[in-house]
Amino acid sequence: MLQKRTPKNDTIQVYVKDGLYPRNEAKVSVFDSSVQGGDAVWEGLRVYPEGVVCLDKHLTRLQESAKTLAFTDIPSKKEVKAAIKMTLDANGMTDDTHIRLTLTRGEKITSGMDPRLNQDGSCLIVLAEWKPLVYDNDSGIKVISASQRRNAPQYLDSKIHHNNLLNNIIAKIQANVAGKDAGLMLDDRGFVAELNGSNLFMVKDGTIVTPYAHACLPGITRATVIEICKENSIDIEEQDITLSQLYNADGVFATGTMGELTPVVEIDGREIQKDDALMAELLALFKNNIRNYCEVLDS
Ligand SMILES: Cc1ncc(COP(=O)(O)O)c(C=O)c1O
Repeated sequence: MLQKRTPKNDTIQVYVKDGLYPRNEAKVSVFDSSVQGGDAVWEGLRVYPEGVVCLDKHLTRLQESAKTLAFTDIPSKKEVKAAIKMTLDANGMTDDTHIRLTLTRGEKITSGMDPRLNQDGSCLIVLAEWKPLVYDNDSGIKVISASQRRNAPQYLDSKIHHNNLLNNIIAKIQANVAGKDAGLMLDDRGFVAELNGSNLFMVKDGTIVTPYAHACLPGITRATVIEICKENSIDIEEQDITLSQLYNADGVFATGTMGELTPVVEIDGREIQKDDALMAELLALFKNNIRNYCEVLDS
């Protein structure tokens, strides 16, 4: 599914480093670390009238990713929340909104990899767009396994939510070439890791199963699904999962802030049913509860 241009987004205000700028003036320098080396961390956030879904958890992940990459001036949660509030208020956004929150290492004094060249502080970007859920969660998505492996910790820890997205982008290109919606990425051992931009779960014989977060992003939606299962006495396990197990699952679904919970209806040409009763129950529980996970931004 290819997202479409939304004319309403032509006039949005974007927060970049120190204030708001109209979309066509919202820019970073060619010396910015994100341009030079993808040296940045990011979060995707969803906005409902009740607030921002799991905001605190997203900000914790942003800060922890930045700490791992040894950023020197990580903004406080209070500062980031103030920038988010300023951006949402300026755009009149309270619903149907997705925020791409990015923290780059900032501008360098000259091009180069060395973080010591960054002497102007980090750069926070709050890009809030009108963007409903990106997938049709009724019809579901079709995926294909990609040859590109998802990073395991010995290469680049998938727990860092960084902007070096090329391995996932290559998997997405492979899916595009095959005419499918997403690339399914395996880990270095050949077990299922995740889709190129979302986590995976399967249902088998009354149990919900998801891969260990060894080589996938430990998604916040993934954590919410696990929490909802536990609260509702639904069996949930983390396991190593093979492609064969996925092909033969009673149901498979993807999770992420962009699309929330999305049935996967085809993997490598094998049809996957999307009417499993337990999966339907879980999808409904998530839909009915997600607004309880929203956090109001202080004024
Ligand atoms: C590679 C990858 N996996 C999974 C996810 C889903 O994570 P979350 O549920 O925190 O949005 C994302 C979202 O950014 C992602 O980039």
